[in-house]
Amino acid sequence: MSLSLIVKSIKPSPTLALNEKFAILKAKGDPVIHLGGGEPKSKVPMDAILSTVAHLNTGEVRYAPADGIPALKQAIIRYTEEFYERKVEPENIIASGGAKQAIMVALQAILNPQEELIFPAPYWVSYPDMARLCGAVPVPAYAEDGSFYPRVQDIADRISSYTKAVIINSPNNPSGAMYSEEFIAGVVELCEKKDLYLIMDDIYHRLIFDGKRPINAYKYAKKLDENSKLIIVNGVSKQYAMTGFRIGWAVANKKLIEAMTNIQAHQTSGPSVLLQKAAVGALNGVQSSVESLRITLENNRNVMMDMLNSFEGVKAYKPDGTFYCFADFSHFEKDSNKLSNFLIDKVQVLTVPGAEFGMEGYLRLSYCGSIKDITEGIERIKWALDFNAPNELYIGDRKLVRDWQ
Ligand SMILES: Cc1ncc(COP(=O)(O)O)c(C=O)c1O
Repeated sequence: MSLSLIVKSIKPSPTLALNEKFAILKAKGDPVIHLGGGEPKSKVPMDAILSTVAHLNTGEVRYAPADGIPALKQAIIRYTEEFYERKVEPENIIASGGAKQAIMVALQAILNPQEELIFPAPYWVSYPDMARLCGAVPVPAYAEDGSFYPRVQDIADRISSYTKAVIINSPNNPSGAMYSEEFIAGVVELCEKKDLYLIMDDIYHRLIFDGKRPINAYKYAKKLDENSKLIIVNGVSKQYAMTGFRIGWAVANKKLIEAMTNIQAHQTSGPSVLLQKAAVGALNGVQSSVESLRITLENNRNVMMDMLNSFEGVKAYKPDGTFYCFADFSHFEKDSNKLSNFLIDKVQVLTVPGAEFGMEGYLRLSYCGSIKDITEGIERIKWALDFNAPNELYIGDRKLVRDWQ
């Protein structure tokens, strides 16, 4: 079949294949555990639901402005003041179909074919393919010391004459690492000096632990006028457990927002007014659900870390935020796709291979599910990989017998 060069440059996600495997096992009634999830399980805030229903009841569900309805822009202006201490205008904002679309239209607005987009590794699976969809080149920056915390120099070393933008996601999916104030300050300074766009993907910025506070990149910017190349991306998906509502946004200079709006207008005409109303409800409503989700996730993180720390052969690093732990399983198997498939086949636990995030030998384990799933999931993985463990394992009243060495 004749397909475009661009579509041929991106790859299908093995995560989807794993999810399909999981769904088939689940439909068969098998006791599968999903440690691969990318969304909190808490309920959507009531204010979001009421706001959507109120609008639905008017019977007037129409096209909306492609860059977002005024009420949502006002809510984002308030959010930006509260979390970024910055007063912006409606023309500095675009609301999109999730943070994902906000990032995608930003990249489409700034990247030319052949130009390069730098991001620290491990990285969110979508960044490389988003760059490729623009005909651009993804450039992962690995920390010299092999850790999850690159130095500013590690980013600087990847800059070439083709570099157009840097994207930073902190706390990071998949590692849970939150970069230091010094690092963020250094990257802001570096991008200003080199005249590069800097996209801050702050989608997890309130889901952080151990008393940490969200970091505000504006604090370190010297150029804060309409020529600023700093783009802040955020959304309701993770913090309000509203992944299915698909509302995210970007805050940037007016010219860039106008360009992004032109793209979005031709692509989708902007997100549904109903879902924007839901986001307005969440952003303006009672905020207690965010803190209660954060506390639950911190507790889940602690449970997962306790289990992984007593798992001989696994190197686990304490996440500063998000709901992911990125653990080194290379002692058992260096090929993370092979290991992930082995775990779903043998003990019915879904994990995401590290190769997807640019680091072989690792698995991403999510702790956004129940404590029961976390503890039982890790127990099963332990059993599958420890050849000194008893030959049999009970899952409920089902007996698993080891038939591998
Ligand atoms: C790092 C990162 N950025 C952006 C997104 C996209 O969020 P949204 O659901 O708002 O599109 C995700 C979702 O998994 C993510 O992990």
